Amino acid sequence: MDSFVPQWIIERKRDGQAVAEADLRELVARFTDGRLPEYQMAAFAMAVFFRGMTSAETLALTDAMRFSGDSLDWGGIGAPTADKHSTGGIGDKVSIPLAPLVAACGVAVPMISGRGLGITGGTLDKLESIPGYDAALSVERFRSIVSTVGCSIIGQTERLAPADRKLYALRDVTGTVPSIPLITASILSKKLAEGAGALVFDVKCGAGAFMKTREDALALAQSLVSVARGAGRGAEALVTAMDEPLGRTAGNALEIAESVEILRGGGPKDARALTLRLAAPMLTLTGVAVDENAAMRMLEEKLSSGAAAQKFAEMVAAHGGNAAVIDAPESVLPRAPVRRPVEAPRAGFVSAVDADAIGRAVLLLGGGRRSVSDAIDPAVGVSDIRKTGEHVSAGEPLLVVHARSEAALGEAMPLLKGAFSVSEEPVPARPLFIQPEFGP
Ligand code: URA
Repeated sequence: MDSFVPQWIIERKRDGQAVAEADLRELVARFTDGRLPEYQMAAFAMAVFFRGMTSAETLALTDAMRFSGDSLDWGGIGAPTADKHSTGGIGDKVSIPLAPLVAACGVAVPMISGRGLGITGGTLDKLESIPGYDAALSVERFRSIVSTVGCSIIGQTERLAPADRKLYALRDVTGTVPSIPLITASILSKKLAEGAGALVFDVKCGAGAFMKTREDALALAQSLVSVARGAGRGAEALVTAMDEPLGRTAGNALEIAESVEILRGGGPKDARALTLRLAAPMLTLTGVAVDENAAMRMLEEKLSSGAAAQKFAEMVAAHGGNAAVIDAPESVLPRAPVRRPVEAPRAGFVSAVDADAIGRAVLLLGGGRRSVSDAIDPAVGVSDIRKTGEHVSAGEPLLVVHARSEAALGEAMPLLKGAFSVSEEPVPARPLFIQPEFGP
């Protein structure tokens, strides 16, 4: 006889009690294979939203979701493995320079990434703006590229944490997305199934981020680190600002061009600094560098010697893409036909750049999706974004818009013009690092 009664578990959570590991495992197993109706899982998710979960419960839920599908195992590839997860923000292209940079230091990076939905761009869409880059490779091909090149970035597979795909879709339509235990289990079920030995998290905080307040971002960072460590992985987290876009570009091909600049030893200060600060713990957690200073020195050397750029070219070629992107991005990447500056209305100091407005403008230009099945235009977006604290003269560009047509440009222009505030008084640059890292 079946002694599992779902409503008793929902009631326990509703009343603020902890749910046993075995019950969470059964709930997830039944939900994944369709024996548990969605209304019961939705009620459970809402109970978690209001009542929260202990660390032990979050770990048990994460584990149950992780083992709902395949798990990858990187033993035997001859290198330690590490990966990075960011909660996403406007202009965040860090994964693209980071994976080859870390691989060039001897840590393999098997990265399973997402597409953009809404206003934040996805790493896969950005990589696919490189002609020929195929992100939909089989797990066997993924494994072979990680083993030979040292890094590979592919899309989510059907078999990786299927419970999360189903639960995320349900949370999306039942108002239960912004729950720290549910977000933790969602992110980590996929990352643990992906199998990397060490995980570094970049939790974004601010107007252009999923977590709007510092308090929520810190709580999510703490939860991700404690559950990842509970699952036996080395883990660290940074909390970083996402009020203004990261770097000076937003839009798929434009962000690849900026990633290439970073890989060639240049690039905007903030995006370069964040890439290094997230890469460093991937080296220390795997024992490839003894401490952060040693890690930083190793990373700087791989950028200046061209080793990281070379690794990127190898990864792109292994994915069928045009590796000449590293030497001549302007001739390989698609370019939008209409380019127009947004001019500063008066002289002064940039006092705010609204990441959210810039993200929405890029979507209107065709660089993002309104629904999952939409095609995106890789060439469009914005470049040369001026940052908070910088001085501008009247009429100087605050950014340059790259549009497919005059009509699309006209649609995005009001948002872009409204995205900047310029003050007569000097304004300090915005600090990027809110919480350097979470120790034990
Ligand atoms: N990203 C995820 O993968 N899951 C969430 O729940 C939220 C952000």
